[in-house]
Amino acid sequence: MSLPRIYVALDTDNLNETLELAARVAPSGMGIKLGMRFYYAEGPQGVRKVIEACPNTSFFIDLKCHDIPKTAAEAIDALCALKPDYVNVHASGGLEMMQEVAKTVAKYGNDAPKVLAVTVLTSLNDENLDAVGQKTPAKEQVVRLAQLTKEAGLSGVVCSAHEIEAIRAACGDDFALMVPGIRPAGSAVGDQKRVMTPAEAVSKGATHLVIGRPITKADDPKAAVQAILESI
Ligand code: C5P
Repeated sequence: MSLPRIYVALDTDNLNETLELAARVAPSGMGIKLGMRFYYAEGPQGVRKVIEACPNTSFFIDLKCHDIPKTAAEAIDALCALKPDYVNVHASGGLEMMQEVAKTVAKYGNDAPKVLAVTVLTSLNDENLDAVGQKTPAKEQVVRLAQLTKEAGLSGVVCSAHEIEAIRAACGDDFALMVPGIRPAGSAVGDQKRVMTPAEAVSKGATHLVIGRPITKADDPKAAVQAILESI
C-alpha cells in the first residue's frame, strides 16, 4: 500500500501567518492546501507568494467552484495560471459543468492541474442533508456524484473516509480520493461530522488526506506533523 500524500489546510486570512505555517510544513514533504479564506483575503497574488516561497511543495487550491458550466470552466481556467497541482469544483454542479471544466484544463496538457470534485461536504451528516431536501443518505449520494465525476473525465473526488470503499468499488482504482475530516485520536472534531483518524483513512485506501486544525492549531505544528506521519 503506498502512503497517501497529505495536504495541510492553511486556513488563515493573512499572508505572513500563512508563510510562517508554510515554512514549518513544507520541509516535512507534505503538500499545502489554500482555500477560500486565504484566497478571498489575499487573492491570487497571495497564493503566488506562498507557492514561490515553497518551490518543491505540491499545492491544492481548494475553491470548490460551483456555477454554470461556462463560469466554472472560466474560473478554473484563471486558476491554471497559478500552476497548482490540484483544483476542485462541486460535483453537484452537474455533469455538463464538470465536462466543460475537464475540456478547459485539457488544453494545458502536462501542465494541467488535476481536477477533483467535492461530493458531500464532510461537515454534513444524513440529518443535515435531509434538512436541505436531500433525502438520499450521504454514502449513496457520494457514490452517485463520484460516478458522475468519473464520467465527466475528472481525476477524482473529495469525500469522507467513510465512503472510500464504496467509491473504489464503483469507480475503480484509477481515481484519486482526497479525504478531509481527518482527526487524530483525541483531537477536537470542531464542525466536521464524518471524521476518521489518519491511520484508519489510509487503511481504507485514501490516496490523499487533508488535515487542517489538528496541525495548524497544535501547540507545536511540527510535532503534530511528525506524530501523524508516525501514526500512518
Ligand atoms: O481543519 P480541518 O482539518 O477540518 O480542515 C479541513 C479542510 O478541508 C478545510 O480547509 C475545509 O475547507 C476542507 N474541506 C472539507 N470538506 C470537504 C472539502 C474540503 O473539510 N468536503
